[in-house]
Amino acid sequence: MTRRIVHLSDLHFGRHEPAVADALIEDLATLAPDLVAISGDLTQRARRHEFALARTFLDRIAMPVLVVPGNHDVPLYNVGQRLFRPLERFRSYICNVRQPVFADAKLTVIGLDTARALTVSGGRVSTEQMRELAATFDTAPASSFKIVVTHHPLMPPPGAPDRAIAGRAAEAVTALEAAGVDVLLAGHFHRSFTADLKNHHPHMHRSILVVHAGTATSTRRRNEDNTYNVIEIAPPYLTCRLRAWRSGSFAEISATRFCRRAAGWVEVD
Ligand SMILES: [Fe+2]
Repeated sequence: MTRRIVHLSDLHFGRHEPAVADALIEDLATLAPDLVAISGDLTQRARRHEFALARTFLDRIAMPVLVVPGNHDVPLYNVGQRLFRPLERFRSYICNVRQPVFADAKLTVIGLDTARALTVSGGRVSTEQMRELAATFDTAPASSFKIVVTHHPLMPPPGAPDRAIAGRAAEAVTALEAAGVDVLLAGHFHRSFTADLKNHHPHMHRSILVVHAGTATSTRRRNEDNTYNVIEIAPPYLTCRLRAWRSGSFAEISATRFCRRAAGWVEVD
């Protein structure tokens, strides 16, 4: 089987570059992925007009879209909204499903909401979410390629071991391992990188490939261009193509190929 997934993150409508968002829509039409996975932070401050902009963007995507919220999709200053209805706007404008699933005969992708009302930028995974995730993967064929999408990371980026990761990350990775997850897609840092989750969680036995996306469309670039990932899956191989906004258009700037061997994911030529 071959599948192509476009992985976008941290769109931050309200602090976005309209020309970059328009070019991204054109790129998607050309790439024609099986799925567009968006790992959170669709808005800058969870304002209604920002969600409306994000909705308009999503409506321009012709293929299936799976999206999870980020911490920026929870209102920061409206305390009533924040504490009692943190994801009300996200649910009404973007996605009304708490744990969205994309599944076909060969691929199962689950979105996991890590955004929480009680932390400003941190995230968390609950035991109930882990149970629900395990139950969904249980219904998939054993041979199904399994992907989880979160906003908050379950491991820090290379060279920054002290960056905060989601609460209960250690328990979460144990649950992902038990469910036979192959790949984790995430965002939040506005940095693109790939790594093996077990390198940060020594208690893990299973190799899970972590793919982080930069910010696709926002001005909050943190020394990176606007970037996104194109992930091509043809087991046992997976290729992660990084596309960056340079000189007025998106272009591929690197392609990294991995192979799942008995010992786990390894980078290959
Ligand atoms: Fe963000």
